[in-house]
Amino acid sequence: MSRKMIIAGNWKMNKTPSEARAFVEELKPLVAGADAEVVCCVPAIDIIPAVEAARGSNIVIGAENMYFEEKGAFTGEISPDMLVDAGVTYVILGHSERREYFAETNETVNKKVLKAFEHGLKPIICCGETLTQREQGITIDWIRQQIKIAFLGVTAEQAKAAVIAYEPIWAIGTGKVATAEQAQEVCGAIRSLIREIYGDDTAEAIRIQYGGSVAPKNAGEIFSQPDIDGGLVGGASLKPEFGQVVNWK
Ligand code: 13P
Repeated sequence: MSRKMIIAGNWKMNKTPSEARAFVEELKPLVAGADAEVVCCVPAIDIIPAVEAARGSNIVIGAENMYFEEKGAFTGEISPDMLVDAGVTYVILGHSERREYFAETNETVNKKVLKAFEHGLKPIICCGETLTQREQGITIDWIRQQIKIAFLGVTAEQAKAAVIAYEPIWAIGTGKVATAEQAQEVCGAIRSLIREIYGDDTAEAIRIQYGGSVAPKNAGEIFSQPDIDGGLVGGASLKPEFGQVVNWK
C-alpha cells in the first residue's frame, strides 16, 4: 500500500491572523521530517499569514470552505481563484458544521467538489452520521449516499487526488472518539464504494481520514487501521500537541 498518510488540522473559527502566523512558526520544527503530509486548514483571513509562515517548510495550507461560483455578487463568499492565488492546496468541503449551521447539502457539496477540481484544488470531502442514525443502523447507507452525491461527475483521475474525511458527528468536539473498529468499518465501506464507482486503482489511491476527537493518545490506534490514511483534527490541531498527532508512529 503506497498511500501517503495525510494529517490535517481544521482550525474552525479559531485564531486571528497574527495568532495564525505565530502558531505555524511554532509548529514548523515540531512536524519537520514527518512521514505524513501535514496540512493546516485555516479561516479565510488567516490563509495569507499562514502561507507566508509555512513557506519553505513541509506544512501546506488549506481552506475550510469555498463557494462554487467563479466570481460576482455573492457577498461574504470566497472563490476558488482567491484560494489558489493565496497559495492554498486543500479545501475542506461539506464539513458537518457547514451542513448543520449553513444549510449545505449533498448537492451544494457536489458543486463545490467539481469547482475545486476545475481549479486544481484538492478537496477534503466530509461525511458522517449522527448518533441517532448510528443507533438506527443506517450509518453505512447514509455515508454511501453522501459520498455518491459528492462524487457525481468527478472523473477517476480527479477522485484519486481527493481526500474523504469520515467524521461521525457524535465524535466531533465531544471527546468521544469512535473505536478503531467503528472507524475502520466505515472507512473500509467508503473505499469499497469508491471501488464500485471507479475501480481498483482509484480505490487504492484515494485517501480516507478519520475525524472526531483525535488526540495524541488515540491517534496511533486509529491511524494504523488498514483503510484509514490519516486524520482531520479539530481541537488538537490548535495546540503544539498537533505535532504529536502528526508524529503518531
Ligand atoms: P475535534 O477533533 O475537535 O473533535 O473536531 C473534529 C473535526 O470536526 C475536524 O474537522
